[in-house]
Amino acid sequence: MDSLVNKIAALEKVSKELNPSLKERESINQDVQEFINNFLENLANYPAYVNENPNIEKLSIQENKKNLKELLADFNSEVVLKGIKPASGKHLGYVPGGGIYVAAIGDFLASVTNEYAGMYYASPGAVTIENELLNWMKNIFGFPKKAVGNLTSGGSIANLIALTAARDKYQIKNEKTQKSVIYLSPQAHHCIHKALRIIGLEDVNVTLLELDAISKIDTGKLATIIKEDKEKGLNPFLVIASAGTTDTGAIDPLEEIGSIAKKFNLWYHIDAAYGGFFILSENRKHLFKGIEMADSLVVDPHKGLFLPYGIGAVLIKDKEAVFHSHHYTADYMQDAVSDTMQVNPSDVSPELTKHFRGLRMWLPLQIHGVKPFIASIEEKLLLTEYFRNKLIEIGFELGPKPDLTVSYFWYPSKEVDENEFNKKLMEIIHNDGDVFLSSTKIKGKFVIRMAILSIRTKTATIDTAIEMIQKCLKQTKDAFSI
Ligand SMILES: Cc1ncc(COP(=O)(O)O)c(C=O)c1O
Repeated sequence: MDSLVNKIAALEKVSKELNPSLKERESINQDVQEFINNFLENLANYPAYVNENPNIEKLSIQENKKNLKELLADFNSEVVLKGIKPASGKHLGYVPGGGIYVAAIGDFLASVTNEYAGMYYASPGAVTIENELLNWMKNIFGFPKKAVGNLTSGGSIANLIALTAARDKYQIKNEKTQKSVIYLSPQAHHCIHKALRIIGLEDVNVTLLELDAISKIDTGKLATIIKEDKEKGLNPFLVIASAGTTDTGAIDPLEEIGSIAKKFNLWYHIDAAYGGFFILSENRKHLFKGIEMADSLVVDPHKGLFLPYGIGAVLIKDKEAVFHSHHYTADYMQDAVSDTMQVNPSDVSPELTKHFRGLRMWLPLQIHGVKPFIASIEEKLLLTEYFRNKLIEIGFELGPKPDLTVSYFWYPSKEVDENEFNKKLMEIIHNDGDVFLSSTKIKGKFVIRMAILSIRTKTATIDTAIEMIQKCLKQTKDAFSI
């Protein structure tokens, strides 16, 4: 017995390192705080994109321990100073969000307390916070109280959960799969196609709908297509709209699509991962009319609420459809079952044990209130207009006036192929990297894409972007000897 106790004591001497003392924690916190302050104070001066690979040796796991200060230096040189900088206001590519500071504190608190947010029984407070956030979103999007929802890791998993519910509600399986039809825009996010493969719907018929001149689903023919498919003996069951496409930010005609879905008894899914929270802007509210008709809706707080990466949300009206795949009781969890409890996150998601990610959304909403979020959203809409006006002044041509904050532009070139010219310009912009922009193709045309959705993007940032674009434009002309 004595030898057992001695062995445990010997191990404890080593393992106690994993649970630092108050003094040690204070020292860790101080080093990290110093790093964070330095990072945030200098963020505006960092380039938004550095096309360099990290030194793998510095990042690989070694047996021996390292000192925190040294690690922070490696983290800075190999992670923070390389690649795209999502925290930077100069990140105007893909869908930036910035990352609200207080949300990071929420993550820190969630990790230190390590609340178990998968089940109400385990942490009634954590699950109540997550369910209250979902109730807040149900209210914003006109969903009924009895709808269920989940805070996911992002939009992809949120879409996956919604599409699984649609599949289960309509029992799309076995021989029914190949006869079933889904209708969506060619501009729908690729995570939807990925989700279909993951949930066993790879063989369904996917009908890509025609778009109008501003990249929204043209509903003119939708009803006829569905009717004809039914007459052919097919099984239309799902129509998907986007409220803010990734490529151009277009919001499909939500109400019209909703009415058609209702008429033909289809599941209506809306992916509002990027655009959803623009509903909070009084100026844009009207574009979201009909969003409340959806059977399922995806919206990403790590986009439109400027939270750090790692939080999406899904709302679904039909609880039974979601529970079909996700609700499970195991013998070892029998203590956790009670009818009076709130909905468990684990009943609405593939996750059981999960990060208490609700705290990163709850804390900023409580500390700052909703007003600054709405102001930021309005500010991004106006900055988009400002950027577009400035681009016209320096000779660029623009895509149509966007519904939201994603837009595209190109430089008109008569001397060389326009696509080649703009590709070269994009390459030079990426090599410069001070401001990060991305590109896309619109009807085969190569265009430069801007997405303004970071809390740190301000008028001065746009001015910097314009200066940089002018400089890169000159270099592009030089490269083509124009
Ligand atoms: C419209 C839309 N849907 C879904 C996604 C996927 O979301 P996530 O990257 O959070 O998984 C995105 C990402 O940009 C998006 O813009």
